Amino acid sequence: NKPKNHILVIFGASGDLTYRKLIPAVFDLFNQKLLPKNFAILGIGRTEMENEDFRNKMQEGIQQFSVTKPSGEDEINSFVNQLYYFSFDTQSPDEYALLKWQLRELDEKCGTDGNFIYYMATPPSMYNVIPAQLAKQGLSDENDGFKRLIVEKPFGYDLETAQKLNNELLQHFKEEQIYRIDHYLGKETVQNLLVTRFSNGIFEPLWNRNYIHHVEITSAENIGVGNRGGYYEGSGAMRDMIQNHLLLLVGIVAMEPPTIIDSTNIRNEIAKVFHSLRPISEEEVPNYVIRGQYIASNIKGEKVKGYREEKGVDPNSRTETFVAMKCFIDNWRWADVPFYIRSGKMLPTRVTEIVIHFKSTPHHLFANNESIVNNHNQLVIRIQPDEGLLFKFGMKVPGAGFKVQNVNMDFHYSDLDSTHLPSAYERLLLDCMLGDSTLYHRGDAVEAAWKFVDPILKAWKNNSEIKVHGYPAGTWGPDVSDNLIDGENITWRYPC
Ligand code: BG6
Repeated sequence: NKPKNHILVIFGASGDLTYRKLIPAVFDLFNQKLLPKNFAILGIGRTEMENEDFRNKMQEGIQQFSVTKPSGEDEINSFVNQLYYFSFDTQSPDEYALLKWQLRELDEKCGTDGNFIYYMATPPSMYNVIPAQLAKQGLSDENDGFKRLIVEKPFGYDLETAQKLNNELLQHFKEEQIYRIDHYLGKETVQNLLVTRFSNGIFEPLWNRNYIHHVEITSAENIGVGNRGGYYEGSGAMRDMIQNHLLLLVGIVAMEPPTIIDSTNIRNEIAKVFHSLRPISEEEVPNYVIRGQYIASNIKGEKVKGYREEKGVDPNSRTETFVAMKCFIDNWRWADVPFYIRSGKMLPTRVTEIVIHFKSTPHHLFANNESIVNNHNQLVIRIQPDEGLLFKFGMKVPGAGFKVQNVNMDFHYSDLDSTHLPSAYERLLLDCMLGDSTLYHRGDAVEAAWKFVDPILKAWKNNSEIKVHGYPAGTWGPDVSDNLIDGENITWRYPC
């Protein structure tokens, strides 16, 4: 099943996302013969460039970032020869007529049947300009071929701006034409969560409040904000990671089985989870949410900057680089089961994992292990790196008595030798080319997630007494985040 002939139009083509992610991902599709016969990419950016310069630059990006890597000059040339570049000021409405002309000409030349995908790899301030101007030129009209619009996060800044953005987009494109991309949904291991849950008879009967004590989701990064300080300063971990990527993971862990695996059914179930999140009122925020910011420290003898010393960051910044929170899903399956979620920059390691903590046995026959922390069955779903699944359980230590030891059953994706793990962008771009929006966010779900997050952001903004806890770079965030966890001898997992 190959996509129809089309042109991929990338707005923001001179930027980093295009260079590091998008073009290498499309090359990977090309390399696996997954692109249609007639295909072209039209890069659009403000920087002046000839086609040739654009091709050379993208060639470098492909060499460095593609997963499949080019096998030789001929192969890479036949790919980059399908790349074109058009420079114009996307802020200026008058120039869109030129774009229309350019697109029609390329369409005729390449035989792409009037099918266009527009990728918005631009700052969000352009989201209300580009779609409107495309529509004005008739370039969202599907009478002569499909027209799809891919939008990168952030989808708004809070509930109000998210609603405004959705309304604006819907004035120019239909919901079915809009693809809101979240690269977490493109991760193979995130999709595997659906398979783990719904294709194995043993998990689903246990996947509820009767057997699960709590769920823990961590997304840790061991780097700081780098050169993105300017963006991050206005965003923070709550908007950058929690509102989208982590709530999405909550949605997939907690959703009901869809009737069938298709876009509407899966997205309905995820949206239902978001609607069931128990609201945290502004007054309750300090009891449920901890925010932190990394401060300067020494990691393995090396001096590391604090967040406030990063480029583009206010020296008195109160932007959070770490969030830990407790939330609940008020429905039949999950009533009163805490979901602990945590994300931060400059933590000791890079890891994203979901841990299902099962309840302990009702009666402890083998009392010798009671003081051990997290001494219960756990299913660890490792999203990245070292993708796989780990199950922890107790076994008898051979010899006299009944001493119990915790052991692991461990599956690593890397053990499957024939597997090419596609990059998230490769998978998601292909889906959009095929017209499948299952792994893209739907507008109503985005708004539901904002509705949950909004009071937290408001509380932080309005109440300066809510602390931003400093944590030394290279540690697991503020110690107080341990206090969020209910229960004796239960802590966060600290993977190394
Ligand atoms: C992005 C955030 O969406 O996700 C970044 O804007 C973050 O700040 C990145 O670093 C993390 O992605 P991944 O795939 O490395 O977990």
